[in-house]
Amino acid sequence: MNILIIGSGGREHALAWKINQSKHCNKLFIAPGNAGTASCGTNLDIKVNDFETLKKAALDHDVKMIVVGPEDPLVNGIYDFFTNNETTKHIQIVGPSAEAAQLEGSKAFAKAFMQRHNIPTASYKEFDAHNYTEGVDYIKKHPLPIVLKADGLAAGKGVLICTTHEDALSEFEQMILQSKFGKASNKVVIESFLKGIEVSVFAITDGHSFCVLPEAKDYKRIGEGDTGLNTGGMGAVSPVPFFDEALKLKILEKIIKPTIKGFAAEKLIYKGFVFFGLMIDNGEPYVIEYNCRMGDPETEVVIPRIKNDLVEIFLSIEYNSLDGINISTDDRAAATTIIVSGGYPGSYETGKTITGLLDESSNDIICFHSGTKITNENVVTNGGRVIAVTAFGNSILQAAVLSRKQIDSISFENMYFRNDIGFEFK
Ligand code: AMP
Ligand code: GLY
Repeated sequence: MNILIIGSGGREHALAWKINQSKHCNKLFIAPGNAGTASCGTNLDIKVNDFETLKKAALDHDVKMIVVGPEDPLVNGIYDFFTNNETTKHIQIVGPSAEAAQLEGSKAFAKAFMQRHNIPTASYKEFDAHNYTEGVDYIKKHPLPIVLKADGLAAGKGVLICTTHEDALSEFEQMILQSKFGKASNKVVIESFLKGIEVSVFAITDGHSFCVLPEAKDYKRIGEGDTGLNTGGMGAVSPVPFFDEALKLKILEKIIKPTIKGFAAEKLIYKGFVFFGLMIDNGEPYVIEYNCRMGDPETEVVIPRIKNDLVEIFLSIEYNSLDGINISTDDRAAATTIIVSGGYPGSYETGKTITGLLDESSNDIICFHSGTKITNENVVTNGGRVIAVTAFGNSILQAAVLSRKQIDSISFENMYFRNDIGFEFK
């Protein structure tokens, strides 16, 4: 069948690379894609939220399955748009309905959902302009650090961890009264700070049954040793060494199962990836956040480790038979290092010619493109995150060393990357 992937990052290149290997995939399209996805299929110059043009392209190209990469179109209702339309309802959309995508689109929705289903998470309260003064009192009495979250999507910038009450009060005012994050911060969730180690866990669900994918750890800060500003992600590794059987079981019983049961109980239509952002404190897992999609750069280490035919797993969503799927995982470890444009996550220049990229992936190394495009037959930078260099190894350290070494042959003006991704592991 013909398949369309929506998005243009490293996540979408990794999905395209994998889906292109499926025996079920005939023609593959990516909208809008990047220079890397162009080697797995045909890029279509359509924006991810332009549903009408996506619909026309899907019909013109006889697409039977659409895999949605980023959260924006999901929160904006791409699932419902295609499924509720007579001419497109035969197309399988891999992703949740708009209602279910609120698990990512509204922090308050996600917190209330977790509370209803007894899913461990930080305690919280939500505030808006109506109960603003109550919020001020709440902050003044709250132990430190205190976490403020814009309710809506804020491009990964809407979470503030404040170490003084003054800071928290000032941010709270800016968010609610001065719309610091636009409409997204009209409502603010205030929650207690969770300590521990973070891990990203993924499942694919049809809203009833599910299968769990390999876990990953991502590196969010721009600087080595996890310092400096938060980014979309500077690297990732999979598996995660402290993720042992006991912890896995706890996460399954206390978090994954109750979440999927919650979808069924609340009749939320959810037919795609669920991303559980977890904090592990003393062996106990807590949900920091849900995302209604795969993580980026986690996808660049998780997907290459899956040996199953990914499209076959997606097809099982339609047949409500995910329970029967046994995810077969590469025994090797994977590490990915992200090469970014100098200046990222602040302002940066684009259009720099990239040299030294691998044309073909080898058994050990794959260069996924995050922000690239082809201009005059050259691959040039087209975003903050530019390339994800994924490598395999018998240990995380071996994979990390290989990923780091491969970067030596890649070059563009003002490139930057972290030297320490995966190096803390053996
Ligand atoms: P989010 O945008 O929800 O992914 O949050 C961004 C990051 O903020 C998370 O990956 C955590 O590192 C951190 N964070 C969010 N909520 C909390 C919390 N309650 N306690 C500690 N850290 C948090
Ligand atoms: N790497 C975290 C995310 O995709 O949200």
